[in-house]
Amino acid sequence: MIALGADHGGFHLKEAAKEYLKEKGIEFTDFGIYEEKSVDYPDIAKTVCEAIQSGKCRYGILFCGTGIGMSIAANKHKGIRAACCSDYFSAKYTRMHNDANVLCLGGRVVGTGLAIELIDAFLNSEFEAGRHAKRLEKIAEIENSIGG
Ligand code: RB5
Repeated sequence: MIALGADHGGFHLKEAAKEYLKEKGIEFTDFGIYEEKSVDYPDIAKTVCEAIQSGKCRYGILFCGTGIGMSIAANKHKGIRAACCSDYFSAKYTRMHNDANVLCLGGRVVGTGLAIELIDAFLNSEFEAGRHAKRLEKIAEIENSIGG
């Protein structure tokens, strides 16, 4: 189950992502926004991250104008590893090396076609663990030391 969320800067990409996920038969929950209106991206990021933290959703995809605001907000949540990506390599390797569980995309940065490629790369790549696992443990230590 994939959690989707967007502000007004990423709304159109979220709608395109829904079409892609439907075509692929991948289940998703759309946490809004449901029409193109101005909202505060941290509110949407919080809802999507809570769906992942609760176990309701495995991954999240967040969309805003740059993808950056969503990624900053998402990364404040314990256990969330959000990556803002605009190239194929990063979207693939943030799963393989960082075990990212949230992909953030910028509706004013990437076109619809590229966004779908990035989502595809993200969802179809697996964490390699091995030497990367202890690095994630160190990230978790930092998170725990500052209260998460
Ligand atoms: C909204 O105008 C814009 O600031 C937001 O979508 C995002 O780009 C923030 O990082």
